[in-house]
Amino acid sequence: MIAVSGRLPELAQAELEALGASPNALGEGWFEVSNTPELGDTGSIVRLAEQAEPPFQGTVGISFWGMEPSSRVVRALKGMGARRVVLPQSGGQLTIGQILGNKLAKAGNAELLQRSGDPAWYQATWWPDYAGFVRRDREAPHADPVRGMLPPQLARTLVNLATHGNRGLVVVDPFCGEGRVLMEAHVLGYQVAGSDIDSSAVAATRENLEWLGLAGPSVEVCDAIQSPRFADEGYVVATEPFLGRPQKGKPASGDTWLKEVLEVHQGFVNVWCGAAAPPQRLVSVVPRLVLQHGELALLDHLEIPAGWGASRVATYARSAAIVQRDIVVLEQRPG
Ligand SMILES: C[S@@+](CC[C@H](N)C(=O)[O-])C[C@H]1O[C@@H](n2cnc3c(N)ncnc32)[C@H](O)[C@@H]1O
Repeated sequence: MIAVSGRLPELAQAELEALGASPNALGEGWFEVSNTPELGDTGSIVRLAEQAEPPFQGTVGISFWGMEPSSRVVRALKGMGARRVVLPQSGGQLTIGQILGNKLAKAGNAELLQRSGDPAWYQATWWPDYAGFVRRDREAPHADPVRGMLPPQLARTLVNLATHGNRGLVVVDPFCGEGRVLMEAHVLGYQVAGSDIDSSAVAATRENLEWLGLAGPSVEVCDAIQSPRFADEGYVVATEPFLGRPQKGKPASGDTWLKEVLEVHQGFVNVWCGAAAPPQRLVSVVPRLVLQHGELALLDHLEIPAGWGASRVATYARSAAIVQRDIVVLEQRPG
């Protein structure tokens, strides 16, 4: 089976590894993976596909990776039995609107994937639940862009990197904001617990979780550093702590920003990694500030507690973002 990643192949690789899919990178964000039932739960994968053999009947859409759409392909597909061929509106890949509008997921039709330099045809067998992601992103009762909302797909990837798909673990977010991480964890079937220093954030997370049908969610006001609230059972932490105050433009110096964010992030990892019952794994967004000249990565200044190791799996950045997100996994070192 082939898994195709969104914009960040390195994040997809880490997520696939966490879910036990043993990815073998083929280039262009394509991975050969062993088939595991959790693959459809990923946040970073945009297609699962299998090698397909002609003839192709019905309406056939085609998405391209690493190559431009071409009329040669349309002719070839018609020669292989396709009744109608749908090409991307712009760019290389069909939009989800085209996939749904042309009923490409229905039996008898197909979305085929073509990759530069690979003569084989692949047929998509799964697409993400875009409608669900969009609904949670835009229609949840609380959405506060100033607080720094995580895109739902990224929130879901954080959950998978932390849990490795083990549904017996509680997912804890001690900087829950409006609850994006906990919402994705709940949708995936995890028990969740959250807290935030700000009572309005706690109320927002509660309402957002209730909107998803979770009755009486466990969300409390609490300082993640001074009076943390640990879970009683086996748990992981997946979180996006304080990213610093909103920036109006690229600053010349990041000294003040660094002091403020380091205090929170250092206190957080010290307290949670040093707890009597620490999390099985801690996945955190660690911010990186784009300066007028160069960048300032908080991770370079963070002291990782003794006995723990940290790895940065990817940097997530919207175009022109001044604050970018390093996705960091902290695990206890064996022995
Ligand atoms: C970037 S936001 C999290 C947003 C969240 N991931 C979401 O998408 O809804 C960071 C949150 O950390 C909270 N916070 C800051 N310092 C804190 C502390 N010491 N303890 C607990 N929460 C804190 C803020 O109130 C804010 O809601």
